[in-house]
Amino acid sequence: MRVLTGIQASGKLHIGNYFGAMKPMIKLQEENELFTFIANYHSLTSSKDAQTLKQYTLDAVVDYLSMGLDPDKTTFWIQSDMPQVLELYWILSKFTPMGLLERAHSYKDKVAKGIAANHALFSYPVLMAADILILDSEKVPVGKDQIQHIEMTRDIAIKFNNEYGEIFTLPEYIVEDELATIPGIDGEKMSKSYGNTIELFMDEKPLQKRCNKIVTDSTPLGESLTPDDCNVYALASLFLDDAGREELSDRYRSGKEGYGHFKKYLKELIWSELEEAREKRAYYLDHMDEVREILNSGAKKAQNIANQKMEIVREAVGL
Ligand code: ADP
Ligand code: TRP
Repeated sequence: MRVLTGIQASGKLHIGNYFGAMKPMIKLQEENELFTFIANYHSLTSSKDAQTLKQYTLDAVVDYLSMGLDPDKTTFWIQSDMPQVLELYWILSKFTPMGLLERAHSYKDKVAKGIAANHALFSYPVLMAADILILDSEKVPVGKDQIQHIEMTRDIAIKFNNEYGEIFTLPEYIVEDELATIPGIDGEKMSKSYGNTIELFMDEKPLQKRCNKIVTDSTPLGESLTPDDCNVYALASLFLDDAGREELSDRYRSGKEGYGHFKKYLKELIWSELEEAREKRAYYLDHMDEVREILNSGAKKAQNIANQKMEIVREAVGL
């Protein structure tokens, strides 16, 4: 199965991103033909300045490689290294009714949040359709907010195919429904915008400090604790199997330990889960030439497929 994932790079990744998006995505490479790119053309619509966009793009590349994206299994590139999508974006624009774009929730939400209502933001879904269709992607894993964009991609592809024959594969989205929302240190959804995250790559001391800030109730030391509503427990559970969770519940209920102990334990869990990733990260940061090579070879592979598709498309429309 050909699976395509597009990642918007928007700064330092946190535990919510890791369990909610990164880990499930990286797992896909085991059983599928996975194509993954950093969507920097898309990020341009919300970028502050050139330096930040560049930095976020490279950070995301290094983070994904460090967390286990395997360039031998997955084709990995930066979107702007395959500008063929921009040609397809223009061609697809002809098959995109204004009404379709006007109905896009994501556009309306962004404008409501104060992002400038320019043409790039408006036509964002058409570029996304080009990303997907140019590679004949069959499955596209997305967050719930992106489902409509996949539906729009299908609408555009159907319109095109109706006129020129079965040129584009109709993609389907995959949404991880049952995935729980990971809480932040205040118990709300962990999110950059709420300032309540625990970042993936922190030094050990700041990481402990951050864990110490997790909000808990005020049960005094020596009394039995309830794991069910505890944010520390919820976060620690992510790193544990059933037996580990049971053991931790018993420790909570025993009354022998307080929240301070469990916050230390959580820090240990995070720190050890990321040990290999930290080593890989240090390695890649030290060997950016190798990273560049991985991206170049990924872009070349994706471009080969894109070029073949574009030959058919150009011929079909008469270019
Ligand atoms: P943020 O809310 O920090 O800006 P993003 O919106 O950039 O995070 O999220 C990127 C991906 O990470 C999303 O597609 C989502 O699936 C996942 N994600 C982010 N925060 C959480 C969370 N608290 N719980 C589960 N998944 C999350
Ligand atoms: N819009 C997607 C997001 O914000 C990123 C993206 C761009 C994408 N092109 C894509 C995702 C193609 C999947 C397929 O998350």
